[in-house]
Amino acid sequence: MKGSFNLSIYILIFICGVCAACFKKQVPTFEKDIAPIVYENCTKCHNPNGIAPFSLTNFENIKKRAKTIAFVTVNRMMPPWPADPNYTHFVGETLLSQNQINLIQDWVKTGCEPGDLAKAPKAPEYKYKSFLGKPDMVLTYKDTVFIKGNYIDQFYLMKFPFELEKDTIVSAVEFVPGNKKAVHHVNGHIIQYDEGKRSDIYSGKYILNSASTEAERVYKELDVANDDGSYPVLTQSAVNYLPGVLPTVYPEGLSGYRLKKKGAFLFKDIHYGPSTRDTFDVSRINVFFAKKMPGRITRELQMGTLGVTDIEPPLVIPPNEIKKFITKAKINKDISLLTINPHMHKLGKSFWAYAITSAGDTIPLIRIRKWNFNWQYFYTFKKMVKIPAGSTIIVEGVFDNTIQNKNNPFHPPREVAERAGSMRASDEMFQFIITLMNYKTGDEKVSLEP
Ligand code: HEC
Repeated sequence: MKGSFNLSIYILIFICGVCAACFKKQVPTFEKDIAPIVYENCTKCHNPNGIAPFSLTNFENIKKRAKTIAFVTVNRMMPPWPADPNYTHFVGETLLSQNQINLIQDWVKTGCEPGDLAKAPKAPEYKYKSFLGKPDMVLTYKDTVFIKGNYIDQFYLMKFPFELEKDTIVSAVEFVPGNKKAVHHVNGHIIQYDEGKRSDIYSGKYILNSASTEAERVYKELDVANDDGSYPVLTQSAVNYLPGVLPTVYPEGLSGYRLKKKGAFLFKDIHYGPSTRDTFDVSRINVFFAKKMPGRITRELQMGTLGVTDIEPPLVIPPNEIKKFITKAKINKDISLLTINPHMHKLGKSFWAYAITSAGDTIPLIRIRKWNFNWQYFYTFKKMVKIPAGSTIIVEGVFDNTIQNKNNPFHPPREVAERAGSMRASDEMFQFIITLMNYKTGDEKVSLEP
């Protein structure tokens, strides 16, 4: 009896010893645990040339912010990825696993152990001027844009004329902010002049402050019309920029579009966020030519505000209400979806898009449970998504015009509505932009990872 009691104690002590050893081993280190997580999920924005306000590229600058990092990761504020990963997945999805989040918590609680720093992986390097390599054509501002430090949002229209030797196929267009702290977003289109329609593409103004100017007057001042006063073809949304957005690149030969010999990029518009001090910006557009004409051409379906489908009911959000709106598109031909962009402003609460086939099956597209105005990605599917003819694409947007919505631009809340073409964040928009192609057998298997 006595002997077995002693034995149990020995066993107990032995087990505890093993546990302690185990526990000690499990203290996470920067070298083994944290560096790989941060360099894989954070550094693409948190680098000296990235869009985030500080770098997370070495032990010192990561340790300095360890507590905030623990906070923003456990609350899933960083890395920013609004799309619900339990619904659909996209190229470039950046999310931490629960295990990675726990590791960061443990690392901070146990005193940010460095481990062997000499053995720690190195942060990737990010070149400033392009994510994609050497551009074939670079267009920059003609003049520096001065941004007054009056803490007011500033919107500009800009024109970047170009002339090419011949009609040219473009595979990707990239906007690179010069002053990444100032640039908030860019909506860029391409003006394409038909042969002989426009003699001097360089006349008119290049940059206009558009805060209070009407569209037509603005077009006059920028002088973008054909010589006879009619308007040229506009290729919509050829270059877009939002926080965190990298240019959409598809695998070689999959898509592209033709640039006419004479044309111009048109930012309608570029938005500089409020700044407390005077600053300036010179940004640039990198254009990449395709080696061969892709067999297929992508096109856009724009639903909701400024698009081809109505919003039901019309987008008017009464004060102190949470209200749902729907917009639907009936699809008549088999199509393949490549990229989608949900868009709302500050009253946005949630966003949900899916298709219902004529057989009644649901095809999930995207679900954003908690809308975040600051992160409006263009989401590219990992593989093309086929929407068969006869399907309906349904988009549901919920808007919160109560005082509980911290982003509500009005206190007390006021009626907020869509004003066609208005980009002011205090007006609303409900928009879903889809890049698509006509369906071809096997598209569902085509990977869109660049
Ligand atoms: C897509 C770009 C992007 C990625 C990826 C990203 N961040 Fe950020 N982060 C930002 C930007 C931009 C800010 C500035 C604040 C803002 O706009 O939300 C920021 C802010 C922060 C802040 C400061 C928050 C505060 O309130 O002071 C921390 C800490 C942070 N990020 C940590 C991380 C960590 C850790 C990761 C990876 C796990 C990460 N971020 C991934 C862009 C990014």
